[in-house]
Amino acid sequence: MWTVQRRRERATLVVALLVCCAGAILEVEGGEKVYTKSFFSPVFESSPGNVFDPHQNVEFPEGHLALRTFTCEVVDADTGEPIPLSELYVHHWFLHKFGVKKGFKALLSSAPLPAPHLPRRYATHYLRKPLHRMAFRPEAQPVQGRLKRRQVCADDEDDLGDDPFAAGAESRNIELSFPAPYGIVTGDMSEYEEGYEEAWYLNLHTIDLRGVVDPRGCFECRCDLYNVTVDVDGHPLPDDYKGGLRCCHHLTNCALKPGVQAKPRRAQFKYTMSWVDYDESVRPVRSYFLDATDSRASVYDRPECKGEYDIPKCTNGTTHEECIHTLQSVEGLPMGGDLIFAVLHQHSGGLGGSLFNEAGEKLCESLPIYGQGDEAGNEAGNEAGFVVGMTFCNPKPGSVNIRTMEALRFESNYSNILNRTGVMGIMKLYVAQTVAEEMEPLAVRDIEQVVNSAE
Ligand SMILES: *[C@@H]1O[C@H](CO)[C@@H](O)[C@H](O)[C@H]1NC(C)=O
Ligand SMILES: *[C@@H]1O[C@H](CO)[C@@H](O)[C@H](O)[C@H]1NC(C)=O
Ligand SMILES: *[C@@H]1O[C@H](CO)[C@@H](O)[C@H](O)[C@H]1NC(C)=O
Ligand SMILES: *[C@@H]1O[C@H](CO)[C@@H](O)[C@H](O)[C@H]1NC(C)=O
Repeated sequence: MWTVQRRRERATLVVALLVCCAGAILEVEGGEKVYTKSFFSPVFESSPGNVFDPHQNVEFPEGHLALRTFTCEVVDADTGEPIPLSELYVHHWFLHKFGVKKGFKALLSSAPLPAPHLPRRYATHYLRKPLHRMAFRPEAQPVQGRLKRRQVCADDEDDLGDDPFAAGAESRNIELSFPAPYGIVTGDMSEYEEGYEEAWYLNLHTIDLRGVVDPRGCFECRCDLYNVTVDVDGHPLPDDYKGGLRCCHHLTNCALKPGVQAKPRRAQFKYTMSWVDYDESVRPVRSYFLDATDSRASVYDRPECKGEYDIPKCTNGTTHEECIHTLQSVEGLPMGGDLIFAVLHQHSGGLGGSLFNEAGEKLCESLPIYGQGDEAGNEAGNEAGFVVGMTFCNPKPGSVNIRTMEALRFESNYSNILNRTGVMGIMKLYVAQTVAEEMEPLAVRDIEQVVNSAE
């Protein structure tokens, strides 16, 4: 497969291999010291039907660094072998960075939380609010300081933080990779207030599909299969909420076939990164999410992102060609630049997504790769019927430029030959400050016009 191919190519570049620095491998590539290391999340024990969705403090490379590559997968903690999605489905994961008081990061606990009864501005669907999902000891309140940056889909002024690493079931076959001198800069202590240090939290959402009545219903989080009436915050579910993250939260269970007996399995998230020490030559990469559910009318309006959506069954066709559901949004990046990497996140049933600039030119098309392995879907990395990878865009740096608050049109397609709940259409963009001079900012304009002219 192409990812395997890529790794082989990389391997041929190795000039020297040394084990150093807290177990990291050091390779010298193009005169540069590149470190690589695999990290593991805490082990969790999953039984058939179980959902885990905790936030946990996890290990991360120490120091002021520029991260070059990232890969991950969920493995059996006892054998180290990859666990197929048909057994343990990875709904999503993300690594979230922020500052905490020195000495306290290991003391922060994770979900579930007592109901905070937060107001919900986003109708029935769920918007990720990582900080609200974590229980902080009073002495360890996170600070953001200069780390604070407005995200495309930030839902309020204090939606802080930065999560450059996030994806779902497709992760196993995607290598996030930035060419030198680009990288995601971490451990920059000037971002934090005195007395604080950088901490990384993993939110990994898994659903144990062994022996369940309806695997697709379970990973589309259909509420009737979870027997829940309130969400993780204790809010009653609206009558018209049929499925999505509000029904498959931490420690819920999906309905099992009668008499299912399977041993609990010890699992953990394995994430492998390579990095270089930060110096002046590094070109920092920023990350953004574009969300197809953003329903704002204009890039200058407040974002209205829901994170997930439902798709009604198509009524006028019977094939995947006839039944395509398209959801599109118009969004702008708070800070533009050169596009370095872009990749889509969709669930099973996804048919891909595209990003267009304001002039209507396609900047990136990213398509799901479906597993072709054995019928039972047991071949890890190639599970039949599951989205096991995504094609991505990594244009030559400098060749694709996105302007600050340019109206980007993002469309997400799904097959609606079946109805679906809780699907996602999220494009992850990695952008670096442009090498050329910053272009003139765009004037305020009517978004209808932009959408129309793009068609
Ligand atoms: C569903 O939940 C109710 C209470 O919330 C419980 O009484 C019932 O046994 C549950 N049903 C199943 C099938 O788990
Ligand atoms: C089916 O209906 C949808 C809107 O309901 C439309 O977008 C689509 O083009 C129709 N497909 C066919 C094959 O007529
Ligand atoms: C999405 O669907 C639309 C309408 O059928 C089609 O024009 C477009 O090419 C599709 N995009 C992708 C990425 O498949
Ligand atoms: C579509 O979803 C609704 C509820 O969300 C369900 O009642 C209906 O049976 C579903 N239809 C099909 C064809 O799956």
